[in-house]
Amino acid sequence: MENALATFSASTVTTILLLAASTLFIQGVEGSIGVNYGTLANNLPPPAQVAHFLLESTIINRVRLFDASTEILRAFAHTGIAVTVTVTNDQIPHLTNIGFAQEWLKSNVQPHVRTTNIVRILVGNEVISTANKLLIASLVPAMQALHAALVDASLDSRIKISTPHSLGILSSSSPPSGGKFRQGYDTHVLKPVLSFLRATNSPFMINPYPFFGSSPETLDYALFRTSSGVFDENTKLSYTNMLDAQLDAVFSAMKLLGFSDIEIVISETGWPSLGDSSQVGVDAESAAQYNRNLMQHVTSGAGTPLMPNRTFETYIFALFNEDLKPGPTCERNFGLFLPDMTPVYDIGILRSTVAAASKFHHATYISVLTIGLLIISNHGDNMLC
Ligand SMILES: *[C@@H]1O[C@H](CO)[C@@H](O)[C@H](O)[C@H]1NC(C)=O
Repeated sequence: MENALATFSASTVTTILLLAASTLFIQGVEGSIGVNYGTLANNLPPPAQVAHFLLESTIINRVRLFDASTEILRAFAHTGIAVTVTVTNDQIPHLTNIGFAQEWLKSNVQPHVRTTNIVRILVGNEVISTANKLLIASLVPAMQALHAALVDASLDSRIKISTPHSLGILSSSSPPSGGKFRQGYDTHVLKPVLSFLRATNSPFMINPYPFFGSSPETLDYALFRTSSGVFDENTKLSYTNMLDAQLDAVFSAMKLLGFSDIEIVISETGWPSLGDSSQVGVDAESAAQYNRNLMQHVTSGAGTPLMPNRTFETYIFALFNEDLKPGPTCERNFGLFLPDMTPVYDIGILRSTVAAASKFHHATYISVLTIGLLIISNHGDNMLC
């Protein structure tokens, strides 16, 4: 943040005062927004150029990587941008060995800790959804071994460990108060994961995609537009958007196991700007609306009906359109930016936009300043694409 502020060209006293006020405000904000920096493409700019662009031209201050690329970690050196790295799924069985975990940390993370702001290591991505028994059985032991390695390296207070889940971990999500983890995984995997997260003061991370849960009939509800919403008869609470319902279903499932105190982080969510021609609600306007409303909502402090007055650290999927992603057209069109760094649509994360808006609307400025960047590559089942 210090670097980001230092490079912000403050041409007037007003701007300086706004920045000072915003900095104070940010310290009181728990949630922030990041972006997933996925790299399944053959036309992306060099990481150094990406890091420079994010720092100089956007308000993004958090990035998630899908691996621990040395080149990308070097690119983010001296930027102050908070970086999350990932141990890929295939490495998880090896990571249960403490010696391997120490080596992994030594070669992938430790060379960068003095220069790059690495804040979190994710052990795999959507491991339970792989249905691979070895990976699933190795998940918690791998997290524990990596944590032990962090303790050995005196990095455990600075770098946290977690693992992102798709909503496929739920057997029931409607109504939100009835959210439940799938039987078997609940006590054998998710309870140990949650116990680990509680013991290490780390967040539970989920990848909710209202896009994949919506149909033409529920499009307005998914996009945070005015809709009839959903009423939960058990709690008598009203839901005005699908994201809140998905978050509360996860919260209810956690509560059922006795873990309502664990923080929830949205490690992936997004909306594609292009799909096949028959698809309803897949266009740049809808994507802009989802991501804009999402940013506003998660940083507003409104929270959800079951988790009022909270903000959520959130990572938009994704930074770039990725031309090598398999599957339907929309999979390659979740990006905020084209490979030449031009925005696919405007959601107010460019610095010039922010500065102009701040003259008239300081609150908007503050809420967008907390946006960061996260890098992710997998999605759950694709209903609309
Ligand atoms: C949330 O904030 C509102 C308005 O400030 C307040 O009335 C309410 O008691 C708060 N709820 C919780 C659970 O803190």
